[in-house]
Amino acid sequence: MTESHLTETPAETPTRPLRVVAVSGSLHAPSKTTVLLKEILASVSRELPIDAHLIGVHEIGEQFAGALRRDQLPATIEAELDRIESADLLIVASPVYRASFTGLFKHLFDFVDQYALVDKPVLLAATGGSDRHALIIEHQLRPLFGFFQALTLPIGVYAKDSDFTDYRVSSLDLQERIDLAVTRALPLIRSRRESLEAAL
Ligand SMILES: Cc1cc2nc3c(=O)[nH]c(=O)nc-3n(C[C@H](O)[C@H](O)[C@H](O)COP(=O)(O)O)c2cc1C
Repeated sequence: MTESHLTETPAETPTRPLRVVAVSGSLHAPSKTTVLLKEILASVSRELPIDAHLIGVHEIGEQFAGALRRDQLPATIEAELDRIESADLLIVASPVYRASFTGLFKHLFDFVDQYALVDKPVLLAATGGSDRHALIIEHQLRPLFGFFQALTLPIGVYAKDSDFTDYRVSSLDLQERIDLAVTRALPLIRSRRESLEAAL
């Protein structure tokens, strides 16, 4: 090896922004669930360059609610499913409705390919009227994404209505929980990304 080889610095590959797709299961606008997702996205973007896309079920629900199979979906919904399936990081949140996620949130994920989320980091979040249904994250969202063999991130974020004032996060505890969930997620997201880039 010549000296010039020894001193050469490898050409740096610019890292593209992390493709983050956030899915809100809320049926309303304005929505506390969507506000929560935006706060989580803001927290991630303080740590990493991201290319964020937010999907609101309240906006697109009517386009897929009546479909029974994926081949019946319009191109707009197919494009949203492609974004979900190809994201580097998914952040999903639903309001609690009747002790579960909303029906349309589940209906959207029923169209996602069974193997498209394998090993994909997924940050789980939910909102509810009180703390009584906070375990929706562990008992309903985590098993759903476990079915997909996704990498559900260790800390989920649950918010109750009183954590918001005028559709803004007004609880310091909630803001800290968001930042903690993101901080704990980052090493997993970074290491998965590095291994995917090394495999290219
Ligand atoms: C039809 C319906 C059912 C609900 N069921 C529950 C429930 O079972 N448990 C709960 O904690 N909150 C329940 N809520 C309250 C919502 O989860 C809560 O207000 C949530 O923050 C609304 O989110 P959004 O502003 O994004 O729509 C329900 C609300 C509606 C409209």
